[in-house]
Amino acid sequence: MNQQQAFLGKISWRSPSNIALIKYWGKKAGQIPASPSISMTLSKSFTQCTVSYDFHSARLRSEVNLFFNHQPAPENFAIKTTDFIRTLETVFPFLCHFRLTVHTFNSFPHSAGIASSASSMSALALCIATILSRSGQLPADSDFFRTASFMARLGSGSAARSVYGGYSLWGKTPLVENSSDKYAVPLNDFIHPVFREYGDAILVVSSGTKEISSSAGHAMMQNHSYSEGRIRQAGERLERLLQVLKEGKEQKFTDIVENEALTLHALMMSSEPAFFLLQPETIAILKKIKSFRAHTNLPVTFTIDAGPNVHLLYPLRYRKEITGFIASELEPHCENRQWIDDGIGSGPEQLIDEV
Ligand code: PMV
Repeated sequence: MNQQQAFLGKISWRSPSNIALIKYWGKKAGQIPASPSISMTLSKSFTQCTVSYDFHSARLRSEVNLFFNHQPAPENFAIKTTDFIRTLETVFPFLCHFRLTVHTFNSFPHSAGIASSASSMSALALCIATILSRSGQLPADSDFFRTASFMARLGSGSAARSVYGGYSLWGKTPLVENSSDKYAVPLNDFIHPVFREYGDAILVVSSGTKEISSSAGHAMMQNHSYSEGRIRQAGERLERLLQVLKEGKEQKFTDIVENEALTLHALMMSSEPAFFLLQPETIAILKKIKSFRAHTNLPVTFTIDAGPNVHLLYPLRYRKEITGFIASELEPHCENRQWIDDGIGSGPEQLIDEV
């Protein structure tokens, strides 16, 4: 590759969404989390992002053209993405000299009510990290995925965790060497085999857009009466979950993960002003999951993101029983009986690397 070729080309990454087990809720200036979080990277819910780029030294600010599903990107997505690129330019000024044409699509329907910022921001961060790397702008000894995670965090905190497959940790903790508030690290070295083969059935209660953005929710944690206690609690639960993931204790996994999900929503309901995102069908599903677990003794676990939809996590060895349970008991509570048959994934994949 000659110098000219390095500055002109097309890069494409497919990056998955992730579901937090220990939630990130509340942040400090500079997109620094109030407490560390742990997530499971998904497989089928991903964003595919393709960036065509060309360099011109005379350009003093990057030119950005954005497309979503082959159409000019909707305004809110365009604003968020352009802001993200402008933020990256302050850290990597070389980026200012590029014209970037970004084409994005999500594997999951736009109307599925699935948060797409983790997958979309991580996919774009991976493309931009690749462009900077090809242009010789990243130190030769830098860890590519760590740099991409650092960049993704500036677009959306949870996106920092999507650059690795399996389980990721974002946020500084003395319990994990090399952990950082500025990027996520993979946790896979010590994960017990029972947690390596996990399904995530995403039960779509409502496909509508959220009534409040996660940025607004994070901001409300700043003056929240329970803020201090929440930070302490997240740290304690993180320590317990790390142990559980290591030892393969499924029952304890359920206790921690479900409490985390309910805490997230309890924090929303006790914010000032208060808001709530759960719907009657969400509660009906949670109750059915608890009762199914009590009757069958199967280690099924629910978690919920910042919305009304439920993620049902289960060991893949029980797939037959769980899909039967979903079809008979849970589908009727889903909007148009819609659910996404996802599970733990192996992380982002690079698709095109053309010059
Ligand atoms: O990454 P953001 O700013 O969209 O915040 C995500 C917050 C939660 O999804 C509720 C929790 C998490 O850790 O992913």
